[in-house]
Amino acid sequence: MEIASHSPEETMRIAEAVGELLRPGDLLNLNGELGAGKTLFVKGLAAALGIPAEMVTSPTFSIINEYMGKGGLLYHFDFYRLQDELELENIGYQDYFYGSGITVVEWGDLFREQLPEERLDIVLEKAGSQGRKLTFSGCGDRGREIAEQVRRRLGVHPRH
Ligand SMILES: Nc1ncnc2c1ncn2[C@@H]1O[C@H](COP(=O)(O)OP(=O)(O)OP(=O)(O)O)[C@@H](O)[C@H]1O
Ligand SMILES: [Mg+2]
Repeated sequence: MEIASHSPEETMRIAEAVGELLRPGDLLNLNGELGAGKTLFVKGLAAALGIPAEMVTSPTFSIINEYMGKGGLLYHFDFYRLQDELELENIGYQDYFYGSGITVVEWGDLFREQLPEERLDIVLEKAGSQGRKLTFSGCGDRGREIAEQVRRRLGVHPRH
């Protein structure tokens, strides 16, 4: 399922709408080239969870950031600088992925084998300087359920 964004603000609004659909334990896997808008998307998600968007910064060097939202924790991973699977094991990633917080992973496809089967995959692609194409695909029952809810909420009526 594809959704077009025409500005950073629109990407934030799309992400906020997705954030409102999430439940404890859900995981989102964000991919797309440098500057595609993955971190911006996380800011929108965070806003929906009651976390000020400006608190969200890329966890590129720390690999993971944690934020306290209204309904629980948001775990924000960035796999871009992750060396290998062992480094991920040392972080104790399974406690996050299978815990009761909401998890979002930038560059999750770099270590796709470590991702849970239940998740929502989102690929962001540049389409001009301000345009982006967001492709959603749900994996597992819960992943497909979120994708369907996103489609119902955003896929039919384009937002500007
Ligand atoms: N429609 C749009 N959606 C998202 N970002 C946009 C859009 N148009 C322009 N931008 C700009 O693109 C940049 C996206 O940066 P962001 O840090 O979110 O990318 P990223 O995918 O996280 O990159 P990285 O792989 O380096 O972590 C921002 O400067 C943002 O303002
Ligand atoms: Mg980023």
